[in-house]
Amino acid sequence: MSTAFPDDFLWGVAFAANQAEGAYDVDGKGLSQADVVPFARPGDYVELHALMSPNPERIAQAATTAGTADYPKRRGSHFYERWEEDVELFAELGIRALRMSIAWTRIFPTGEEAEPNEAGLAFYERLFRRLQERGITPVVTLSHYEMPLHLVTEYGGWADRRVIGLFERYADTVLRRYRGLVTYWLTFNEINTTIIEPYTGGGVVDDGSPGRTGRAHQALHHQFVASALVTARAREIDPSYRVGCMLARMLHYPATSDPADVQQAQHDNDMNLAHTDVQVRGAYPGIVRRFWRENGIDVVMEPDDERILAENTVDFLSFSYYMTLVSAVEPEKYGATGGNLFSTVKNPHLETSEWGWHLDPIGLRIALTDLWTRYQVPLFIVENGLGATDRVAHDGSVGDDYRVDYLRRHLEQVREAMADGVDLLGYTTWGGIDIVSASTSQMEKRYGLIHVDLDDRGEGTGNRTQKQSFFWYRDLIASGGATLDA
Ligand code: BG6
Repeated sequence: MSTAFPDDFLWGVAFAANQAEGAYDVDGKGLSQADVVPFARPGDYVELHALMSPNPERIAQAATTAGTADYPKRRGSHFYERWEEDVELFAELGIRALRMSIAWTRIFPTGEEAEPNEAGLAFYERLFRRLQERGITPVVTLSHYEMPLHLVTEYGGWADRRVIGLFERYADTVLRRYRGLVTYWLTFNEINTTIIEPYTGGGVVDDGSPGRTGRAHQALHHQFVASALVTARAREIDPSYRVGCMLARMLHYPATSDPADVQQAQHDNDMNLAHTDVQVRGAYPGIVRRFWRENGIDVVMEPDDERILAENTVDFLSFSYYMTLVSAVEPEKYGATGGNLFSTVKNPHLETSEWGWHLDPIGLRIALTDLWTRYQVPLFIVENGLGATDRVAHDGSVGDDYRVDYLRRHLEQVREAMADGVDLLGYTTWGGIDIVSASTSQMEKRYGLIHVDLDDRGEGTGNRTQKQSFFWYRDLIASGGATLDA
């Protein structure tokens, strides 16, 4: 099959500030919500959620503990120090797009300052200028699991409406500063995480008081409004800016052809797509209002909110895709397997990764086609990749043929969807370079095409080495996708 990828397809890699940069207390950066999340071993989802979502006592203890020993996201993979070397490697890889995020805490350390921190602004400006010189387009997320910790402890995170204004000030600052250097902006990473894991997505702490689900829905509403306001502001500041939303697409299959299972899967899909219904179509679907009603959730809205959502929908829809899930009215009848923030009914037709995530390339084609059919706006796959334990051979090489196989099989399905007419702007594989895992904070759960010599304790040289997948992806990009068939 000849390639279906257009010449301007945005081939790239993706990572987030809180997982890559490190340097958590350098050049005026404030503590972020990610900086107080400790290392967690995978497996027990109850324990994982407790660690990912620290209670007020754990946060207070972490906030007064200096150093990086117990908090891996404070050290990341040293991108803040080694970014120049990393950009050269990305240039060698031949990527056209780098999806990354700005750490809000480098710009406004507590979120409340009247003036931004120039050292933080200057860091990203240097980075964007270098990317521009290397012909790499930044795709910039404004909020990727990283809000100032001060706003978590003093405001209750996004559940407090005042955070909208603080976020607008931060967004306005960077949208003005980086005109001419950035084109693509994403407002919130995986905005549906605010419901699945309210601390990670919305800075909503579990303090033991009732009503956390309601606070999470309130926080999500504030994020939707903030996203719409920032989208409007971006258009005012620079009409060439293109602003997208970002969803963790969780495609659900029915466990059986029993209509009750099929309806359950449809419901679960619709709840996932409710987020993009708001951000792409501009209104909450009935299924969400029913959920609020039946669960006693009273989302407080100001009179203009629904108009703001309706008038400021996004230019494109970006999403992450790692796995598919299975819906059943009686899930206990089936075995379970893992996900990044939850476990799901096991699909007997699919293999799983070392972390128990379903591997499902065809699901990506289904997800693409389904999103395109539903929304008819350009799509962008901004995360897809394999978390695996890599082995470094004696000669220093990393033969990650399993990652090559993963990427190839997913990209073959991407090509199929595009051949069917899906409008796809690009594909940025997660994480390009090894970084700290979002869920478990492990370093040894590696996604990169570039190996970083650091272990779970942060020990190692930090040196970078290209893996087998690096050379494969480099050749693929250079051929415009043609070597998929090689
Ligand atoms: C996505 C996040 O959910 O999944 C990333 O946007 C994250 O930040 C990625 O790293 C993979 O998850 P994990 O937990 O394996 O790092």
